[in-house]
Amino acid sequence: MRSAPAPPPYNHTMSPTQSPPPIPDTLEPALRTRIPGPESRALAERLARVESRNVTALDPIPIFWERATGANLWDVDGNRFVDLTAAFGVANVGHAHPELIEALTMQAGSLLHGMGDVHPPRVKVELLERLATLYPRGDSDEPPRVRSVLSSSGSDAVETAIKTALLATGRAGLLAFEGAYHGLSLGALDCTWRDDFRAPFDARLPNATRFATFDDLDDVRRIAAESGESIGAVLVEPIQGRGGERVPTRGFLRGLREICDEAGWLLIADEIYTGFGRTGAIFACDHERVIPDLLCVGKGLASGMPISACIGLESVFEAWPRSQGEALHTQTFLGHPASCAAALASLEVSRREDLPARARKLGAEVLERLRAGLSSVTTVREVRGLGLMIGIECNRPKISLDASERLLERGYVLLPSGDGGRVLSLTPPLSIGRDAIMQACDAIVACLADAGGYESR
Ligand SMILES: Cc1ncc(COP(=O)(O)O)c(C=O)c1O
Repeated sequence: MRSAPAPPPYNHTMSPTQSPPPIPDTLEPALRTRIPGPESRALAERLARVESRNVTALDPIPIFWERATGANLWDVDGNRFVDLTAAFGVANVGHAHPELIEALTMQAGSLLHGMGDVHPPRVKVELLERLATLYPRGDSDEPPRVRSVLSSSGSDAVETAIKTALLATGRAGLLAFEGAYHGLSLGALDCTWRDDFRAPFDARLPNATRFATFDDLDDVRRIAAESGESIGAVLVEPIQGRGGERVPTRGFLRGLREICDEAGWLLIADEIYTGFGRTGAIFACDHERVIPDLLCVGKGLASGMPISACIGLESVFEAWPRSQGEALHTQTFLGHPASCAAALASLEVSRREDLPARARKLGAEVLERLRAGLSSVTTVREVRGLGLMIGIECNRPKISLDASERLLERGYVLLPSGDGGRVLSLTPPLSIGRDAIMQACDAIVACLADAGGYESR
């Protein structure tokens, strides 16, 4: 019997055979039906019969996605939208970037799934090496020596960080911040601020987290003086994402680093939302030249494949014992080859196109356009952000929730964030076309100005 030839291994370090495709233009919205259209409505009815009722909110009925490329998506009724969310801040290089799809397809044809922590795939090593080069370097020219644990979701990365901090410090307590969102798995949930997420599961929570006021170093110092001994680490989003695009005062992160050093705490930066260029630097920590002890990443790492990591200083990761045949903390899909290949492709596109710089420049223009347009709209409290992570805080959640519905009807997909959803959040693909996002800004301004007029009547 002749054995089938093995497929050639896919080499991720190969340079592409053709010159890289340019960033695709973002097309303006093109709607064929009322929003949501009949197909979306029909799917909502079917979904309501099979999914747990807590998962997808069906009032108002959402649009059901069919396909997406770049910063555009099409729903099942053939309506074309502009995606101002990057689908939860994930599609950093745009949806279905051709190079990412090529890497994914090649990897899937060669090795789709492997044995991440037993007989590991080659591509896992390549990704870990690449991640090590990107770690925040502070004032140094070289990144520090780091180690990583790969996983699938953002919450997974936070769980790894929590366990690592416990091993490294011997203390179970953490300090997190009011407004924080670190995920919903039980360990991460204990560090997530919102009571609606926590309360139903309180009986299962260790309640081992103290919460300080975000952007208030005095409050952190007060807690350090009161109960510093029980705390092992500070877990912080350098910019709060789901908490409403809250950008702290410059110096906050550096101040936190200093307090951690004085108190003997580890600093864990949760850059699951802010990582890989979103805020105009590879990591938000880079803006203040801060080196965290541990760094959680996910979302934009692979621009659409589920993969996350907890990366951290080698000295901290030495708290873990050497594996004696079974890892103490692992997952079936750790180091999933297809996700690793997508991550490498996404990182390469981001490097070549310098997407962090693009986010910085375009983000500044978007902020300026929105601030100018909304300055006299009384229902808007603040427009803020860094890079392409921008929030428009309204006086009341109703204003922003209504606006996101009306904008969807005009072909723009946005998400509410913050307290009760009072912030309209913009986290588009970093590759979104300039004209498209400027048009989107004008649509947002028009929509909120209408709502403002209505409010004052
Ligand atoms: C800062 C931050 N940390 C953690 C998470 C949890 O990630 P996941 O939903 O992939 O578990 C999120 C998700 O929005 C996040 O924004």
